[in-house]
Amino acid sequence: MIRDTLVPFSKTSVLIVGGGTTGLTTALLLARYGLTVMIVERHHHRSGQPKAHAINPRLLEIFRQIGLDTTRLRKSGVSPEDGDTVRFVVSMAGKEHATLPYERQGPETFEITPEPLFNIPQPSLEDFLIRAVESNENITFYRGVQWESCSQLELGVLSSNIRKMVTGALMVVESAYVLDCGGANSRARDLLGIPFSPLPQYVQKEVHHLSVHFNADLTRFNPGTLWWISSPRADGTVICYDRAYDWIFVTYYNPKTTSPNKFTEHYCRELIDNMPFHPREVFGVNTGIADAQNLAWKIHAVERRWAEEAILSTYSEKRRPVAVANAYQSVKNQIQSFGRLDHVKEKLDCELRANAEHFDSIRLQIGYRYGEDEVPDEPCDYYSPSNKPGSRLVHAWISVAGQWLSTLDLVDGMSFVLLLSDHSARALADAVRSINLPVIIYTLCMGSDFVVLNASWASTVGLSRPASGLLVRPDQHILGNVTSVENIERLLAACLCS
Ligand SMILES: *[C@@H]1O[C@H](CO)[C@@H](O)[C@H](O)[C@H]1NC(C)=O
Ligand SMILES: *[C@@H]1O[C@H](CO)[C@@H](O)[C@H](O)[C@H]1NC(C)=O
Ligand SMILES: *[C@@H]1O[C@H](CO)[C@@H](O)[C@H](O)[C@H]1NC(C)=O
Repeated sequence: MIRDTLVPFSKTSVLIVGGGTTGLTTALLLARYGLTVMIVERHHHRSGQPKAHAINPRLLEIFRQIGLDTTRLRKSGVSPEDGDTVRFVVSMAGKEHATLPYERQGPETFEITPEPLFNIPQPSLEDFLIRAVESNENITFYRGVQWESCSQLELGVLSSNIRKMVTGALMVVESAYVLDCGGANSRARDLLGIPFSPLPQYVQKEVHHLSVHFNADLTRFNPGTLWWISSPRADGTVICYDRAYDWIFVTYYNPKTTSPNKFTEHYCRELIDNMPFHPREVFGVNTGIADAQNLAWKIHAVERRWAEEAILSTYSEKRRPVAVANAYQSVKNQIQSFGRLDHVKEKLDCELRANAEHFDSIRLQIGYRYGEDEVPDEPCDYYSPSNKPGSRLVHAWISVAGQWLSTLDLVDGMSFVLLLSDHSARALADAVRSINLPVIIYTLCMGSDFVVLNASWASTVGLSRPASGLLVRPDQHILGNVTSVENIERLLAACLCS
């Protein structure tokens, strides 16, 4: 529900600060667990800038898990034919030096994920999420209200002050949780004094960029999602959101030598008319939503008394390394591309090789593993399906009562799932039922409950031996392979901090 009349005092289970992509998805995740959620968003209207342009497989897999219609969402995005190429050119109409594929969008990608990446402007994604939030009975969304402060009344009860932007009226909201989804520039985090520790590379290399949003029909040019333009007049990147209408041009400048006042509307128009082109990181939104999924099932586990509250602090421990790896890659991309401005053509081949990784980051998208001690030194365009604990369950196509699904669809987020190798593993399922476990474990048997259409999946995930099982957490990440009830109890105890 979207509301604009906030009463002076209200209660909710979870208060979410920030109604952008991450806030909206977090609300949808939590509402499924029957929690009441209130979102407060400071702005009455969203900015029209398209911002993020690509959504990755893991984010789409999470949408799919919460029952959002990803097929419909794809219809408001860019078709793969129009969005799968990066072009390195002198100008859009001029000489082309080279092209690279943009991420994995081809049909072969369906071997590793049910949901290949695609391009969509962030406002269209937000519209889609807002429609889902509007029709959700457990969520209320208030715009034009600002979170100001909170204090703890008693254990498990937080009281937040919320200010209505137009009238300045203060209201109070009581909740068990307050989640800040305000992103890197979050006000709430600053107000709570929670430090933001940017990567050292960011601090050393402050980057100033100008981004010009423009509408134009450029269908006369070849399709391309990123145009990397390098000409004597200007260097920068054009990002395509809709070939017939929606574009952004991004260029970098040095504030020591160039005053931001130079970028008048007239100047920007000229720049676009001469159409020169720079890719930006694509990880912000994608990281935020995987963060939200990790936190949501843990809150559910605490609320259901499956887990001790200590599980909530495993959130930082598990998610931070993933976010840091993403941020490092973004910094690397930015610095590499920034360096490109001083030396152009001779080094183009070398630059292209160095940048190929920027345009295929599949390992960061679906190959990350929770609890990994060291950052893997594999390139980010390398993905190898794995059954190691903490990995995302390996995708394969399956048939369930004649329906074509993904193995990921077997784990809907509401419970743990035990996948069994064959009938001889049924004894394991019976044993699980006979003991008093604190959690719900849903058991599914390969060959009868679901038929795997890729013969190598069972050995990849360790289910080719008879009488074996694979225990998967609600967030679709692997808890471990099991052959006995003792294995299951031990894995659960460690995971639930009990
Ligand atoms: C809202 O919460 C109830 C439990 O209170 C749950 O049964 C229902 O499925 C939730 N609705 C949605 C749309 O998630
Ligand atoms: C079958 O699964 C393996 C990994 O388990 C994967 O590498 C391969 O691409 C899949 N093949 C097809 C046709 O989906
Ligand atoms: C899990 O699989 C590994 C090899 O993949 C094996 O060494 C280990 O014993 C298995 N654990 C259980 C509990 O079956």
